[in-house]
Amino acid sequence: MYHFADRAMPMKSFVPGPERKREFRDALGRFATGVTIITTVTQAGPVGITANSFASVSLDPPIVLWSIGRHSKRFDAFADCENFAVHVLGAEQLDLGRRFARSGDAFAGLAFGENEAGVPLLAECLSRFECSRVAAHDGGDHLIMLGQVTAATLRDGEPLLFARGEYGRFDGFSRPDRLET
Ligand SMILES: Cc1cc2nc3c(=O)[nH]c(=O)nc-3n(C[C@H](O)[C@H](O)[C@H](O)COP(=O)(O)O)c2cc1C
Repeated sequence: MYHFADRAMPMKSFVPGPERKREFRDALGRFATGVTIITTVTQAGPVGITANSFASVSLDPPIVLWSIGRHSKRFDAFADCENFAVHVLGAEQLDLGRRFARSGDAFAGLAFGENEAGVPLLAECLSRFECSRVAAHDGGDHLIMLGQVTAATLRDGEPLLFARGEYGRFDGFSRPDRLET
């Protein structure tokens, strides 16, 4: 049953469940995010995945989170890892986002470095957070990974965005009414 609070701007309500997966995804997709690539290293080599579940958690100590789907072929690699790196993509890095969303060896033919823990580091991203894992929490069909940031890197540029199942970019910035000092 849908409830229309305002005829000019109709909204529908529903209880999420197996029958309502599409609508639940659509509702979640109204929340715009950036796009990241998370990398780690396994005995079989480097692994990376496109993820928009990234979020900042704590400034002091510096902690971030993201979640890996239990259904993912790359789940074991990340569930078992001690270290990972989060690469925030710039607006011009759409191809990289698409590349790491696909299964297979996204690193093939790609130039990358690595940090002391052997974690692959991609160049030219908008910002990067090298992390050591501090906790992993059950999150239903995802596992929530928390990492302490051991090194952060950034450059100027515009972020790649993701909303309503599509990539996009800002068409302008405006300052918030109240600025943090
Ligand atoms: C914009 C975008 C964001 C995504 N965010 C996540 C995420 O946060 N966590 C996750 O596990 N998968 C996420 N995915 C899906 C993975 O990138 C990948 O496509 C999926 O895991 C299926 O491939 P796999 O089974 O080879 O891992 C995202 C995909 C896209 C395109």
